[in-house]
Amino acid sequence: MKRILILTSGGDAPGMNAAIRAVVRTASFFNIEVLACHNGFQGLIREEIFSMKAENVGGIIQRGGTILQSSRSKQFHQKKFRNKCRAFLKEQNIDGLIVIGGDGSFKGMATLEQEGGPKSIGIPGTIDNDIIGTEYTIGFDTARNTALNAIDHIRDTAFSNHYYFLVEVMGQKSGFLASDVGIAGGAEYILTPEFPISIVRLAKKINKPSRHKESLIIVVAEAGKPGRSLQLAEQLKKRTPFAYRACILGHIQRGGTPTVLDRKLASEMGHLAVTALKNGASKQMTAICNNQLCLVDLPKVRCGYRKLSNKKVLEISNILAS
Ligand code: F6P
Repeated sequence: MKRILILTSGGDAPGMNAAIRAVVRTASFFNIEVLACHNGFQGLIREEIFSMKAENVGGIIQRGGTILQSSRSKQFHQKKFRNKCRAFLKEQNIDGLIVIGGDGSFKGMATLEQEGGPKSIGIPGTIDNDIIGTEYTIGFDTARNTALNAIDHIRDTAFSNHYYFLVEVMGQKSGFLASDVGIAGGAEYILTPEFPISIVRLAKKINKPSRHKESLIIVVAEAGKPGRSLQLAEQLKKRTPFAYRACILGHIQRGGTPTVLDRKLASEMGHLAVTALKNGASKQMTAICNNQLCLVDLPKVRCGYRKLSNKKVLEISNILAS
């Protein structure tokens, strides 16, 4: 392994910069040359690569987002564009590729390798924590702390004005953010894509509380329908006598200073990704399994997303808030 390329792809996540730093510094330690690519796979199609040295990644460990910037490339789904990238990587003598991103990004990376591209290793980065094969993805901890902080703020105004609040958090296919933030924020109800509850049932529960609540928090995972909490608030207004407000946290959850956990795991994963490539591994990703850092095979194509496996947390949160 003499020359590797690193890129970030898909939605950004806090901690990606710590991973980039770890990759560049570890590679430099082993005398492996690093090139970086701007704007994910779309940037690779446009050949936006440049050299990255140890001194270029100073002062980034604490920054949110990704200094390399990112994209969700539609063109990279087409073989002709992947062929172009493959030829370019060959011409540049790149023998290893590290992609920091989510499930879709790993699919692109694995397809490129399968079609004759360089050996590749993924580093899971998405605030949704929904990649099959790992218990943790970079960015999740920062996002849940950001969302929790917002809930604490909302609680002040909810109490003061007797509002019933719907707080919408991200989570396209999975409710990991909603469930963690819900129980930690003392939410009465947590709505996730895995365990949907009908509006009629929810209204019934709200109308029959075990004790009167002047204010209340319902954490709602966006579940692929950003803004759905506004609609839910309207529906609840019609069925219960309370004053509802909705707060959509949105992309605030994707930005900000990464937490200790995100910086630490991103650093360790970045280091592992380089040593794995150096030792000949490929088509794998860094992962947390049984709380341990490890390498696992990439998720199978079309295997879907990691999901909450039971609703215990949702039930406990409801009991504790009753
Ligand atoms: O990063 C994951 C995620 O935040 C999802 O929860 C969300 O639905 C999606 O990305 C939105 O991303 P974008 O606005 O960049 O398309």
